[in-house]
Formats: sequence, C-alpha cells, structure tokens
Amino acid sequence: MAVVEEVAGAWLKDLLRLPADASFGFTTGAQSAHVTALAAARHHLLAERGWDVERRGLAGAPAVRVLTSGLQHATVDRAVRLLGLGTDNLRSVGAAAGRIDLAGLERELTASDAPAVVSVQAGEINTGLFDPFAEVCDLAAAHGAWVHVDGAIGLWAAASARHRHLLAGAERADSWTTDAHKWLNVPYDSGFVVVRRPDAHRAALSTRASYLVHADDAAEPGVEPARDQLDWNPEWSRRARAVPVYAAVRSLGRAGIASIVDRCVEHAQRLVDGLGGLPGVEVLARPVVNQGLVRFRSPTATTTRAPTG
Ligand SMILES: Cc1ncc(COP(=O)(O)O)c(C=O)c1O
Repeated sequence: MAVVEEVAGAWLKDLLRLPADASFGFTTGAQSAHVTALAAARHHLLAERGWDVERRGLAGAPAVRVLTSGLQHATVDRAVRLLGLGTDNLRSVGAAAGRIDLAGLERELTASDAPAVVSVQAGEINTGLFDPFAEVCDLAAAHGAWVHVDGAIGLWAAASARHRHLLAGAERADSWTTDAHKWLNVPYDSGFVVVRRPDAHRAALSTRASYLVHADDAAEPGVEPARDQLDWNPEWSRRARAVPVYAAVRSLGRAGIASIVDRCVEHAQRLVDGLGGLPGVEVLARPVVNQGLVRFRSPTATTTRAPTG
C-alpha cells in the first residue's frame, strides 16, 4: 500500500504541476485535506515564533490569521474551527470582481506581523473564478505568510494545456488541496493534500503507537524507510484510497485526464450559453472551467434586479 501511495502521489503531483519534493496525503476529501494543510501551516508559522503548538497547544500562542477573499468554501471555515484558530481570526480582505482583493490583502498583511495564512482558491464554488496566485504569492513572500490553495475542482486545470494558464503562480504556494472524486471521477472519499514543507506536515500529523510496527522502526540502517501513512493524514484506519487513484491515472493517462477537463469545460460553457438563450434565463457567470451561474426569472415577476455575479 505504501508503494501504491508513493506512486499515485508522485503521479498526481506531476499532473497537477506541484513540486516533486512536496509531501502529500490521501484524505477523505478536501475538507480533511484543508485540516491537514492548515495544521502544517499552524505548526510552521508558530514554530517560526518559537512556539511548539503540538506540545503547548494554542492557549497563549500568537493568534494565526487566515485571510481570504470572503468567498472561500465553507470547508475552510470548518478547518479553522477544528484547528482551534478561531473564526474571529478568519478575515475577509474583500473581493474584486470575484477574486481576492490584492490591495485589501496587502493592507491586512502590512498592518500586523501576526502569523498569517492566505487561503485562495482555484475554482470558486459559484463562478469558478481563480484567484491571482502569482500576485498573492509575491505579497505573502514579502510578509512571511503561508499560502494555501483550495483547488478541490480547479487544480485539475493544470492537467490541460488549454486551461493551465488559470493556475499561473499557484505552484509557488505552500499547500494545496484537491479532490480525486471530482475531476478524476473516482468514487467519493478521495481527497489529496500536498504540502511544500514535509517537515511541517509530518510534525503536525505524525503519530506512533507501541502496538504497531512503524516503517522507520523496521528500516535497515542507511535505507530510506517505506512510507508510513500515519505521518501524512489525520485518519488512523482507512481504506486504500490510493488504489482507485492509481487505477484511474494509469488507465486514463495524461492525455485522457486533459481530455476530461477540456470536454467538461466545453460542455459547461455550451450548457450555460444554451440556457442563457432561453426566455427568462439570465447568465450571471459563464463558466471559467466547469461552474456557471444562471438565474431563472419568475414568469410572473414584474421587477428586474441587476445581476450580482
Ligand atoms: C472549492 C471546494 N472546496 C472544498 C470542497 C469540499 O470538498 P469535500 O467534499 O471533498 O470535502 C468543495 C466541495 O464541493 C469545493 O467545491
């Protein structure tokens, strides 16, 4: 199983154009992938300030801010709650035309040196918009902030030569989440988390028990120990979710996955354009990738409202 995970994980990082030396975990979904990524962020940002959060907990620790456009998926909010960061520290810096407002982000980062995660997204849940990753990463680098990318849907655009420009700069982030049960079409319960800093990822997640034989206990001197899944994801017992991922990537290949993305985007755009041509239907957001937004007006409505996007 460790080997299947290693192979499938390396393939996914390659397909998604993420750093080959980043660590990864196969989680239940993007929700637990966010928890994992933000646990690594929490570890790293607090360790930089001399605070061992795994040992000391959060009481008395510097507050970790999580900055977003305000349009983040609700699973980010829940990850913030589960990690004890506190939703008061989840701050919207505002959105400009559906994407994180860079001026607002710069203001927030400049206003304080408190540890900060900037949580951005590839594929906003309603409009499918992608945040400006390169500019966000520049600002975050200037202020020592951690950049997390929710790419549950949109990270798969990296597999398509036609659409990967949407992700320009996202490869410079510190952590990423996606779902194989979205564009890769494997059954539910198949999230994927990638972390640029394996040390922070492992420090936040790893655990040991006397009744288990861990790979590093059994390794021979000088031999790299096999992967131990307990180091990289929050579950203890779990199914072998790397197997369907391995099978899907192996059978579809790079071209097959690119074709799923390209065809799905074409269909979504055709569907939304077609709907938009019907009487009483208004297109609020034409799909950037596979999400669009239309409004069906009531045939009896007497007033019209401006689209809000
Ligand atoms: C952008 C985004 N993030 C996170 C999630 C949560 O994913 P999961 O249900 O795999 O936890 C979703 C689910 O639709 C999503 O669209």
